[in-house]
Amino acid sequence: MSEHLTVVDHPLVQHKLTLMRDKGTSTAGFRQLLREITLLLAYEVTRDIPLTTRNIETPMEEMDAPILAGKKMALVSILRAGNGMLDGVLELVPSARVGFVGLYRDEETLKPVQYYFKAPESLKDRLVIAVDPMLATGNSSAAAIDLLKQAGATDIRFLCLLAAPEGVARMKEAHPDVRIVTAALDRELNAKGYIMPGLGDAGDRMFGTK
Ligand code: URA
Repeated sequence: MSEHLTVVDHPLVQHKLTLMRDKGTSTAGFRQLLREITLLLAYEVTRDIPLTTRNIETPMEEMDAPILAGKKMALVSILRAGNGMLDGVLELVPSARVGFVGLYRDEETLKPVQYYFKAPESLKDRLVIAVDPMLATGNSSAAAIDLLKQAGATDIRFLCLLAAPEGVARMKEAHPDVRIVTAALDRELNAKGYIMPGLGDAGDRMFGTK
């Protein structure tokens, strides 16, 4: 995975994404689809994690078989919508440790302000996967990655459901070393910072708030 942005065009991902975008999809349906699609995206974001070999015996003969080299992983949810992506990744990588970053936007400075940060120990030794369904302006994502780097992380990937070109550009400028994996690159942001055509407010849709 050498590209800065990977769009996962697998038919199952695209099908599930269409169902998620549809405003008629229920809150429960939205959450279930997000879990399923995240599992498929997690497959892609972990595609190049290091392997080693282990000598085993099949019922037929001995072999050196591939097995994960055991690089520890940390999943970091960018609150609150990132929480909807945790279960999908954890289903594939149950041993991953989980952290949380909470940021809000100061209405005067328009800058992201941290209100919560809790990360697993030894981030520097871990593959860190930050999750947030919507990469919109990229400001809060870039700020969350800043915090993770300050906490020692050096190998970070960003997993989202939808990305706007503006957010991808912002992340590339701030964190060119952080690869992004997404299900779709949408057209643009609207004046209120929503992704178009998008799917609306991901947090509201998964938690049934308005
Ligand atoms: N956050 C959302 O939930 N939706 C958008 O379209 C943009 C940011």
